[in-house]
Amino acid sequence: MASSHTNEEEHHQKVKEYMEKYGIKMNNSLVNKQTGIDLIQFMETYPIISGMMSKNQIYGILYYLKQVIDTGVIGDVVELGCNIGTTSIFVKKFLDMYAPDRSYHVYDCWEGLPPKVEQDESTTSYQFRQGSCKTSKDVFIDVFNHFKLDLPVIHSGWFKEIPDNQYPEKICLAIYDGDFYTSITDSFDKTFHKVQSGGMILIDDIGGVNNSLDTHPLPGAERACLDFLKDKKETYDYLAYADKDLNFGIPCGGARIVKL
Ligand SMILES: C[S@@+](CC[C@H](N)C(=O)[O-])C[C@H]1O[C@@H](n2cnc3c(N)ncnc32)[C@H](O)[C@@H]1O
Repeated sequence: MASSHTNEEEHHQKVKEYMEKYGIKMNNSLVNKQTGIDLIQFMETYPIISGMMSKNQIYGILYYLKQVIDTGVIGDVVELGCNIGTTSIFVKKFLDMYAPDRSYHVYDCWEGLPPKVEQDESTTSYQFRQGSCKTSKDVFIDVFNHFKLDLPVIHSGWFKEIPDNQYPEKICLAIYDGDFYTSITDSFDKTFHKVQSGGMILIDDIGGVNNSLDTHPLPGAERACLDFLKDKKETYDYLAYADKDLNFGIPCGGARIVKL
């Protein structure tokens, strides 16, 4: 193993020198895989632009994104429920630098949450409702322009109504952040079978406060996971996100599924 690793490094070095000598634009994916990328430092690239996601949660997403890429899982990246792009700007910048060969597809209806169903009922004082989290595609685009990023592939509509061929055939990492039971169920229906073996699905709003569904403000997300995975080999844990010190091991509000 050691010698093949060295050979690979030598090969990358030769390619890099060749490209520099002949003025060929460097493939960042290749170069950065060799030199590595400091994710903790990378997290300082942008501010956290909304309360939808915190730094430790976005760090978790990038950590697993890097892991699936490094382990050679093929496929593109999808985010179902992108809102104004709090997570998306980090994912896009990371892919631009580290794996520009991977496409990034984001999905949103721009109408906020769909109608609540029974599985979304909770006893918390703050209640999410139909239309909560509403934003617009223009705001999402403005955010990307502001940070001078190329846009990802944007798909507008309700997840279940977006045609299957607008979801990539092969997915290495899927981020589900649609909050309500039907939104997470639709995310599974549209993409679970496209996530490649060894790839991952990270789902927001799962676990955290005592891991009790009744006292979670968005219990529908976990109920959707439990129902969808009932007849599948896969299971989930609560380790999608890092804690405030950017370590993993404590449930911090997100589920992680590794595709078998
Ligand atoms: C919590 S926000 C997503 C936050 C985002 N991931 C971030 O990092 O800031 C949820 C988004 O999902 C969208 N959404 C929820 N359910 C949906 C569905 N069934 N189809 C399409 N969009 C949906 C909403 O419009 C909203 O913008």
